[in-house]
Amino acid sequence: MTDRRRVLVTGGAGYVGSHVVLALAARGDHVVVLDDLRQGHRAAVPPQAEFVQASAGDREALDRVLGAHDGWHAVLHFAALSLVGESMREPYRYLGENAGDGFALIDACVRHGVPRFVLSSTAALFGLPKTIPITEDAPVDPGSPYGESKWMIERALLWADRLHGLRSACLRYFNAAGADPGGRIGEDHAPETHLIPLVIDAALGRRPTLDVFGDDYPTPDGTCVRDYVHVSDLAEAHLLALDQLGTRSVVYNLGNGRGYSVREVIAAVEAVTGRSVPYRVVARRAGDPAVLVASSERIRAETGWTPRFSDLQDMVRTAWLWREANPHGFGDR
Ligand code: UFG
Repeated sequence: MTDRRRVLVTGGAGYVGSHVVLALAARGDHVVVLDDLRQGHRAAVPPQAEFVQASAGDREALDRVLGAHDGWHAVLHFAALSLVGESMREPYRYLGENAGDGFALIDACVRHGVPRFVLSSTAALFGLPKTIPITEDAPVDPGSPYGESKWMIERALLWADRLHGLRSACLRYFNAAGADPGGRIGEDHAPETHLIPLVIDAALGRRPTLDVFGDDYPTPDGTCVRDYVHVSDLAEAHLLALDQLGTRSVVYNLGNGRGYSVREVIAAVEAVTGRSVPYRVVARRAGDPAVLVASSERIRAETGWTPRFSDLQDMVRTAWLWREANPHGFGDR
């Protein structure tokens, strides 16, 4: 078929990227995934998608892939180093690789006439926010080189729109959670640093105990509060945001608008699994803000986006089902 929309997805073998690839393929788009598999998993890419093993900043590979066809509909950019703590220890690697890859990709889009770009951005732009919930207009003050590197790409996209008419959607995720409800793919990071998979592993007895990073925050139970958003709802938001890009660029914060504490996450995992989670309270983790909750009113109003998984237990259930069925994740690490 020639009328299918052709989209390039960098990092399409990663956690959020692969869920977006499933959603794009399900609506009939022709998807090409570009991923260097340093963090992504080949098995996370569905058979309907084409796969190219290369990094998002590989200019030759980008020219080869984008130059092979006319009429690209969009590029969606997920590939990135994404550990906040690691970025504090290796700031110039994060700034250099993330921003450098982003700039090379934007440049390739401009040269090959790609009209639309979607960026996987982050709530880490907001550092220690002064007002909750956080709107798109809240002051940007990244608390880490990771957040700064995403902000640098957002700024480059502003210039790509002004100078070249490349329309973009910058999507700032809060805490991505859960797994494909169909059980096809899920979350598999090495090392795993995210709360929900770690709590599930503690419940499964695959970790002796969960470390809770601080219980002396100014929150109702003393532990940090985060806005968890289901990865399939994030995927749907990408499709809707893409459809906004006919005439203008957009920026959206993506969350449920409701926060859950670390203790509430533990309780949700215990309720879903029927197992108790061994945990101990340890020192705070450097750089963690007490509360991060999104206002997603803008994307709801402009696109009609309505998360299907707003209940924490429903999100945890999908993560649990995938983890239980795939105790070693994709089994390639
Ligand atoms: N936490 C623990 N113990 C752990 C792991 C996490 O108590 O073993 C706590 C953290 O202190 C935090 C909460 O659980 O309060 C969530 O932590 P995650 O590491 O799962 O997620 P973060 O909120 O730190 O970070 C996520 C993404 C980042 C992104 C950021 C934006 O992982 O990529 O949200 O807010 F930048």
